[in-house]
Amino acid sequence: MKVLVLTGSPHLKGTTAFLADEFCSGAKEAGHEVVRFETAKLDIHPCIGCYYCRKNDGKCVHDDDMSQIYPHLLAADAVVLVTPLYYFGMTAQLKRTIDRFFSVNTVLRETPKKLLLIAAGSDEDDWVMDALKAHIHALCRYLRWQKGGMVLALGADTRKDVGNSQYQTMARKLGEGLSGRRTSVSGSGAS
Ligand SMILES: Cc1cc2nc3c(=O)[nH]c(=O)nc-3n(C[C@H](O)[C@H](O)[C@H](O)COP(=O)(O)O)c2cc1C
Repeated sequence: MKVLVLTGSPHLKGTTAFLADEFCSGAKEAGHEVVRFETAKLDIHPCIGCYYCRKNDGKCVHDDDMSQIYPHLLAADAVVLVTPLYYFGMTAQLKRTIDRFFSVNTVLRETPKKLLLIAAGSDEDDWVMDALKAHIHALCRYLRWQKGGMVLALGADTRKDVGNSQYQTMARKLGEGLSGRRTSVSGSGAS
């Protein structure tokens, strides 16, 4: 499978980067082709709602680093969103990237893909991921994509909290278990 990993943290060696590393290692070992972008480090402008793309055959008014991502997004069999929890949602850096899917919406909705989520937050209460999970559900419903599994790390404030933890194992297994069939990872913190 072609797997596109989009990370959203500004920390290249942070909590979610560690889990993304584990996922990517697992997916590569299973023979998948993995391409990863650290969206927080790219020049990606937020959508300005100008609808230029609607009048120009899907070409966005912004000429920026999304041009690197689009070919991989269109070709991907699975898209993996990786984000720290920021005020109960994904980071603005990742959200601005997803908003830019808008210019290729029609193609994305006609191309079946899996959507996976890897998230981490410092809080320990399980409800704190509810809004993020609901967002993923809505994205899948709208784009007509399939949910491919999630790893939701609670009580994870720094990289040290996920090293040698159940979440490290779960992230690796999520990558290893990617297949044409629906992937699920069982255990606390995943759904
Ligand atoms: C602006 C900001 C907002 C945050 N909001 C939440 C939150 O709503 N819930 C939570 O559990 N943790 C929250 N955190 C903590 C981060 O999610 C946590 O430290 C995470 O491990 C950081 O991951 P990273 O190292 O990959 O960036 C927040 C941190 C920042 C800087």
